[in-house]
Amino acid sequence: MYHSKITGLGHYVPENVVTNDDLSKIMDTNDEWIQERTGIQERRHIIRGEDTTTSMGVKAAKIAIERSGIDKEAIDFIIFATLSPDFYFPGSGVLVQRDLELKNIGALDIRNQCSGFVYAVSIADQYIKTGMYKNILIIGSEVQSTGLDMTNRGRGVSVIFGDGAGAAIMSREEDLSKGILSTHLHSEGQHAEELYVKAPGMGGRWVTDILADNDPEDISYFGQMNGQFVFKNAVVRFAEVINEGLQANGLQVSDIDMLIPHQANLRISQYIQKKFNLTDDQVFNNIQKYGNTTAASIPIALTEAWEQGKIKSGDTVVLAAFGSGFTWGSVIIKW
Ligand code: ACO
Repeated sequence: MYHSKITGLGHYVPENVVTNDDLSKIMDTNDEWIQERTGIQERRHIIRGEDTTTSMGVKAAKIAIERSGIDKEAIDFIIFATLSPDFYFPGSGVLVQRDLELKNIGALDIRNQCSGFVYAVSIADQYIKTGMYKNILIIGSEVQSTGLDMTNRGRGVSVIFGDGAGAAIMSREEDLSKGILSTHLHSEGQHAEELYVKAPGMGGRWVTDILADNDPEDISYFGQMNGQFVFKNAVVRFAEVINEGLQANGLQVSDIDMLIPHQANLRISQYIQKKFNLTDDQVFNNIQKYGNTTAASIPIALTEAWEQGKIKSGDTVVLAAFGSGFTWGSVIIKW
């Protein structure tokens, strides 16, 4: 029996900054509305042809591998969390194996949207705990921008999301007082259609239907979100799953040194901060700069918090996510 720990972190965001004012030139929105409702000031969008979900994941992964100090030959497995893979299939994990020129190790894609990185950590943790693998590369990467409805019709969704990638190396830890202490995963599929992209899906809109209809009003391949319902569920589930993680480890809220919430919406993070009575130093947010990057948001935030010296050895770090599915989860780490 072993523990796993995060030994290297990296992130990459495209250079192309899209401000709220930029969006207000192409749709009926404005900086005040977006900041007041979401906290977002700007986000990154890829320049088409320059980056993809996989290429950004690879760039983040190279940094994480270098910082972990391991040779890439020592990586035993790849887990890639995304809702925006380069291809409908195969997933992006195999493309990372190709592009990083790794051995013929296993590669797994996770389709758990905003909770994808938390699920990835949990899966990697299980493989390392049992001794099956020693070093696992996990990536959360998303290109949202090419799939957003950039018209007035889509403004409630499209202003929220951004592109980017984060990666981590998880490795074996023999000291059982350190590393990942526990992970907690949940889902409630009855709300799948409150936040989803319907097409192309074999149970929803087939590609052949969409092509045959050629209907400009067809929004089935754009994200659809019942924003207020998502908000109400998010704040409840975030709180529940953070408490679940603390209780499982006999910890109190006051033991949290750093909470990294999925960057869904600054108002959701602020609600959680207030509910748990946490100080600004105990919660890390960077949605202001990047928007909501779904599966990439936690590894990007975790990397920046670590780079800024806000996470130190011995700290209790909590990761928490909620998103489409609904799925939600938490990770309790002794750094
Ligand atoms: N700019 C200006 N006006 C807008 C925009 C926009 N981008 N989008 C919608 N509006 C208008 C609406 O048309 C509506 O106008 P009306 O009153 O004339 O009908 C008005 O603003 C209010 O719209 P609501 O949808 O009711 O706005 P709300 O206050 O609920 O805010 C938001 C919308 C920000 C999406 C909010 O519901 C929310 O934060 N939900 C949580 C969802 C979330 O965070 N999702 C992230 C992805 S999921 C995840 O990661 C967990």
